[in-house]
Amino acid sequence: MKREGLSSVHADKLFEQVYDYVLDGIRRKDWKEHEKLPSVRALALKLDVHRLTVFKAYQLLKQKGYVYVKDKSGYFVQPGGMLATASLHDPIVSAYVQRSHLSEIHQVQATYQFSKALIDPNLLPNLYFSEYVKKVFDLYPKVLGTYSTTQGDEELREALCRYYTERFRFYLTPQELMVTSGSQEAIDLIARVLVKPRDVVLLERPTYSPAIDVFLRQGANILAVEITQHGYDLEQVEQLMRTHKPRLFYLNPTFHNPTGFTVPLAQRKRLVELAEMYQCLLIEDDPCRDLYFGKEPPLPMFAYDTSGYVIYLRSFSKYVAPGLGIGTIACRPSLMAYLLSAKALSDSGTPLLNQKIFLHYFFSERMQQHLLKLRTALAVRKDIMEEELAATDWEWSSPTGGFNLWIRLPDSTPMEKLLGQCIEQSITFVPGIICDPQRELASWIRLSFSYLNEQQLREGIRRFVSEVRSLTAQAEE
Ligand SMILES: Cc1ncc(COP(=O)(O)O)c(C=O)c1O
Repeated sequence: MKREGLSSVHADKLFEQVYDYVLDGIRRKDWKEHEKLPSVRALALKLDVHRLTVFKAYQLLKQKGYVYVKDKSGYFVQPGGMLATASLHDPIVSAYVQRSHLSEIHQVQATYQFSKALIDPNLLPNLYFSEYVKKVFDLYPKVLGTYSTTQGDEELREALCRYYTERFRFYLTPQELMVTSGSQEAIDLIARVLVKPRDVVLLERPTYSPAIDVFLRQGANILAVEITQHGYDLEQVEQLMRTHKPRLFYLNPTFHNPTGFTVPLAQRKRLVELAEMYQCLLIEDDPCRDLYFGKEPPLPMFAYDTSGYVIYLRSFSKYVAPGLGIGTIACRPSLMAYLLSAKALSDSGTPLLNQKIFLHYFFSERMQQHLLKLRTALAVRKDIMEEELAATDWEWSSPTGGFNLWIRLPDSTPMEKLLGQCIEQSITFVPGIICDPQRELASWIRLSFSYLNEQQLREGIRRFVSEVRSLTAQAEE
């Protein structure tokens, strides 16, 4: 029997259809702000569903901030509910208010860029790049006259498969590898292919900020998994997987952005087991693996996956050449077919010229020497930042790789004011709140030590510390 008014195209459960029905009514102003919604009983009768179904829908509406409950008298429309929460939870409205919080910060021009987790361009072997460009035009004179294939240049995919197999024991075929325009595109493709509105997605807390923005845009229901220097609480992860059946868990377990933490080997193996057990895909994002200061990090989870539950994302923007924008997705063929369709709708393949330059540069001896120097240069810059911060009583744990310090400022720090004042002083940083799926972590910030030279680092940190001190002193007065 067709139930009156229940026609949602997205919802696959009955209570979700009731939820959509009520939400549409609120949106159309059938019920205005503070107006009482039909009782559970009345709506159940009208829609020909069980009372518990309506109750469940009302509970979800309450949880999302669209309605509120008055003791014993029922459910009422929350004023401003559509605006305040829609951007976070409602796929239709969120489509109009999409944001990338991190890129907004990156657009600020500043002398002391602590917000950019990127290599100082002066550390790249810029002088030699023209050699590779020339070589590519000599070898492939028609390179500008054609598109790449959607999946990526075959020569590059073959070379990368050999590399992944030798270095990380991946045993990949070129059919299981796609070249993307960086990892950001990869996250976006995966979200578009795998996540539909209200699907549960697990994200680390904190996490890479644009990942939150991408999954919110898909209308995902995001649940947070704390990451600490010991990794995750795997009992909590299992509990979340068992109870909420998440579609995927997006994680960045090696020199994690923003904290720098690395998840230990035993947890990696167990996570792969859990993923298989609860059929939850693990999206392993791994842009900083080669940037270690001491010993190499444990192998990626992808190396332990035998059932196809891990999708491995690798960006080479971080230390090879951000200007080339090359990344890859490794996954098993069934998933690859869907990702290829999405990529074909997004562009006509990552630019071939970039792929060929990357191929010849990445596998050159110069690149490998450059990497050795880069690790040392980054470790020195990290030490400088930590030396300058040692005079404060702020908290952070020293990372063993990557680009960032994740720092807790005094709780009294007025963060928005600090950001404003810093921008005036030509200093930028990343407020922790945008890395938190729960939009809390208000005292935390991410400072990148990778982008500035040693002198700018010292100078910038001194200025930054003095801004924080003067604002916290005012706040505590
Ligand atoms: C964890 C993580 N994922 C993805 C990206 C985006 O990588 P790309 O520049 O290759 O798009 C970044 C860049 O900062 C990152 O830190």
